[in-house]
Amino acid sequence: MNKDILNSKKIAAEKAVEHIKDGMVVGLGTGSTIYFAIQKIGKYVKEGLQIKVIATSHQTESLALEQSIPMTSFAHVDGIDLTIDGADEVDTNFNLIKGGGGALLREKIVADASKEFIVVVDESKLVAQLGKFFLPVEVLPFGMEKTMQKLHHLGCHPTIRVTNNKPFVTDNSNLIIDCAFKFIEHPQSLHNQINSIVGVVDNGLFINMANKVIVGCFDQTVKVLESKPL
Ligand code: 5RP
Repeated sequence: MNKDILNSKKIAAEKAVEHIKDGMVVGLGTGSTIYFAIQKIGKYVKEGLQIKVIATSHQTESLALEQSIPMTSFAHVDGIDLTIDGADEVDTNFNLIKGGGGALLREKIVADASKEFIVVVDESKLVAQLGKFFLPVEVLPFGMEKTMQKLHHLGCHPTIRVTNNKPFVTDNSNLIIDCAFKFIEHPQSLHNQINSIVGVVDNGLFINMANKVIVGCFDQTVKVLESKPL
């Protein structure tokens, strides 16, 4: 990955970590931007920061454990104080496409359970309209051919995500169908239409969930954007 992009991800992630306070339950997303947040949190934990973390993927869990960050689960906490996560696209209304790393379902569960949801991105992720990035949809393996046809009828080109010549399997033992829409005019109604297809578990549109977007710019400055009240 280009050095400027990597550094922009790093400065955005590290800025978000400044919002973590002692005693918090923190949700941690998945991906290359969150990697930098985990490294910074690990450093603070070694210096005495007292937090518990809920991870959105096996990948994040093992990175957090490598840093000796204390983990917890929904069985042990009532809710999450703050979640930090990346995104594939962010529009001007703070609607997101997520799931490039295949963790969208757990990411949405964790974001939904959080009092505050901070999104961290490099500036290339900011868009006027969502949809240039494919929309990931998590589906059950059973009947996925039929599910895929129904997604196609919504006006996209759907393809099953493949890694190392095999279908990509999520942490929930499901598949991901990447839907190329090119542009998404009405994110909320598309979200609802997709999730009403039998066989779909969830899709990567996160509507009205983010409270803040922290953007790492290529000139190495950081912008903190606050969501407008509805
Ligand atoms: C994983 C995600 C990621 O947040 C998204 O793909 C961005 O990843 P990265 O920080 O590597 O650019 O939604 O499911």
